[in-house]
Amino acid sequence: MDWKTLRTTARENFKGACRVCPVCNGVVCASEVPGMGGLATGASFRNNVSALAEVKLSLRTVHAVCQPDPSYSLFGHQLTLPVIGAAIGGIALNMNNAMTESDYAQAVVSGCRQAGTVCMTGDGPVPIVFDSGLAAVRDSGGMAIPIIKPRETEKIVELAKRAEAAGAIAFGIDIDAAALVNMTNAGQPVGPKTKQDLAYIKRHTAIPFIVKGIMTADEAEACRDAGADAIVVSNHGGRALDHTPGTAEVLPYIAEAIAESQMTILVDGGIRSGADVLKMLALGADAVLIGRPLAQGAVGGGAEGVATVLAKIKSELIAAMVLTGTARVTDVSEDVICL
Ligand SMILES: Cc1cc2nc3c(=O)[nH]c(=O)nc-3n(C[C@H](O)[C@H](O)[C@H](O)COP(=O)(O)O)c2cc1C
Repeated sequence: MDWKTLRTTARENFKGACRVCPVCNGVVCASEVPGMGGLATGASFRNNVSALAEVKLSLRTVHAVCQPDPSYSLFGHQLTLPVIGAAIGGIALNMNNAMTESDYAQAVVSGCRQAGTVCMTGDGPVPIVFDSGLAAVRDSGGMAIPIIKPRETEKIVELAKRAEAAGAIAFGIDIDAAALVNMTNAGQPVGPKTKQDLAYIKRHTAIPFIVKGIMTADEAEACRDAGADAIVVSNHGGRALDHTPGTAEVLPYIAEAIAESQMTILVDGGIRSGADVLKMLALGADAVLIGRPLAQGAVGGGAEGVATVLAKIKSELIAAMVLTGTARVTDVSEDVICL
């Protein structure tokens, strides 16, 4: 699919909910929540993008890395690149009815499959959000990951069991949605979880458990101690709390704190190119999630649009690997970063 047409179509279909800017950095959409922007001043969204821009790469071409390998294995499932689709829910409200909840979930899950990777799906105050994601999980043969709001602990276990029954390769909770008023107003309370709550969820479920929305080393350690299989270093794309640091700022401290553990480290927030993916891997992530750029792909071109965005990021990643002498994404040297 032609890149320019994809972006023009996305801009038209969003009808102002997302301007599909040349750089998706949260500047013009500050305070547009509901919408596609960042909460309040939009600082957390902007900090994600600016923190990554601060990281510089060392250009190296005196080496023999001509055909680097971008493939990555997530919980034993082979992916063609270390990039996973981020969960995005509430399509009608956030995207000006650009798509239905169900069409969006199908587009991102199937577009990620076409590109050789997996997508996370969302949850919200109305059942259609979680149910649309779960239907897409089922239709993809399980190659997707439902992310459940930090609801009452028993309810999380109940929804995780539905994810298991749908064949999902893993499930997660976006713990940083702990103060989401639209959930509480709809009679579906959300809130923080203790280490014991997390351990309880892990004990009562069978597929890998991901905690999404970790921004400090001590909470990453708590997730490790509770038995979580993965964390996502994330500030919810700047939509949970104003004035948090960018995820690229906190990632190295988190990675260092849990370096000895088996827990997978994922990260998201402001990742816009293959070079950004490589930066996050060099800062300590095993793989990354991408949100808004895939939403633009889905709204501009459905599953094909999502696959087009991912193909572009993959070719940029391969070029960045050649230009930094990185042979494999599973072994990215911190020397890739120029200090
Ligand atoms: C409109 C919108 C809706 C979102 N809905 C969810 C959701 O239901 N569950 C969730 O875990 N994260 C949700 N997120 C956060 C994303 O999963 C992800 O953390 C964030 O978009 C990453 O930042 P990026 O968009 O800059 O790549 C949402 C983000 C946006 C923009």
